[in-house]
Amino acid sequence: MSIEWHNFFSNRTRNITGSQIRQFFALTEKPEIISFAGGFPGNDYFPEEDISQALTRLIREDSRQALQYSPTEGSYDLRKVLSEKMSRDGKSCEADNLIITDGSQQGLDLLARILINAGDPVLVEEPAYIGGMSAFKSYGGVTVGIEMDSEGPIPSSMEQTIKKHTRDGRRPKVFYTVPNFQNPTGITTSLQRRYEILALASRYNIIIIEDNPYGDLYFEEDVPLSYKAIDREDRVLYLGSYSKILIPGIRIGWLAGPKPLIEKVSMAKQTADLCSSSLGQQLAYSLSRNGFVDKHIGLLRSLYREKRDAMIDSMEQHFPAGINFSRPGGGFFIWVNFPAYYPASKELLDLALQQNVAFVHGEGFSSNGGGLHSARFSFSQPCIEDILFGIRTLGEIFWEVEADCSVKIASQ
Ligand SMILES: Cc1ncc(COP(=O)(O)O)c(C=O)c1O
Repeated sequence: MSIEWHNFFSNRTRNITGSQIRQFFALTEKPEIISFAGGFPGNDYFPEEDISQALTRLIREDSRQALQYSPTEGSYDLRKVLSEKMSRDGKSCEADNLIITDGSQQGLDLLARILINAGDPVLVEEPAYIGGMSAFKSYGGVTVGIEMDSEGPIPSSMEQTIKKHTRDGRRPKVFYTVPNFQNPTGITTSLQRRYEILALASRYNIIIIEDNPYGDLYFEEDVPLSYKAIDREDRVLYLGSYSKILIPGIRIGWLAGPKPLIEKVSMAKQTADLCSSSLGQQLAYSLSRNGFVDKHIGLLRSLYREKRDAMIDSMEQHFPAGINFSRPGGGFFIWVNFPAYYPASKELLDLALQQNVAFVHGEGFSSNGGGLHSARFSFSQPCIEDILFGIRTLGEIFWEVEADCSVKIASQ
């Protein structure tokens, strides 16, 4: 008898659908594709030699710590180093306010698990990071997009949305934001906006989840003070990660927040994985303590800046003037807006794939049915040569689309 697996799935997991981004993993593995799709770090930027030496030292000098289970909340040494780093950046915090997670993605999952009831509205940016939205949705949360402009989420849009949902008896409890070099738009929320959003959160008693995997990767100016740094009420839960500043392969991130919240997250984590990788934590600790990670971040800033410049310069040179794009001051992503008279970005992607170039079309990032004429381009992974070739190829495609559209418009 063949098993009808869908009949066995819990009601909760019926909501889970595959992410559009994951579907690109298979695509990006094909060597003939130049992919601007995945938000992966550059493969060539992994500090293999330093990692190899540190691992050898760890096993030789303290194999018990590195190879044994760790406490659920994570190694005290690592939490101490991270809390000191956060405090230096103005985000005052003690080791006990911090829990180590399997990347910040696990932080999102655990927060969704302890905060979200089925049907709860969750305020997110419009557009927003797909993995964040998926975490909330997988516990029955309903994402509600807050419109953004070049300064970040728009406070009046946020207030209207809060009022509307409150009137309908579904008061939002949580706002999820990526304030620095946002995934997918590359937008950094201005300091003024951070104060305004925090004031709204305070007025309507909303918790802010601040997800900051890209903030250290600024190319020119440092980022504004974090929500966590300007919060006076302990209503900001902060997520950090080693994935983009060291390597994602160790799956180490952290969550900082008030103690009662951290205790609850720790209980939820016990059933998820008992603890994060001890080896990964010890590696992150040893490379942070000796200053290597900070030095490496400095190098990454200049390497990713070159890639950003290559992509922006090439887009300026090769894309028709009607195509607009963001100019991020750091991170991995550029958001591209196509003219409304173009076919949907999904169709443009099909044309691009025929020429072996990939990006992510915009719909999956939207809670409000938007993104039809937008796309996310990531410059982090391909080499500069591929960036230049890929953007030139796309330019040729888009000029043909432009010509087709002009013919159609003229004949109407
Ligand atoms: C905004 C954002 N948050 C969280 C994550 C998850 O990162 P990790 O779990 O590797 O720390 C990503 C990964 O791309 C991201 O872009």
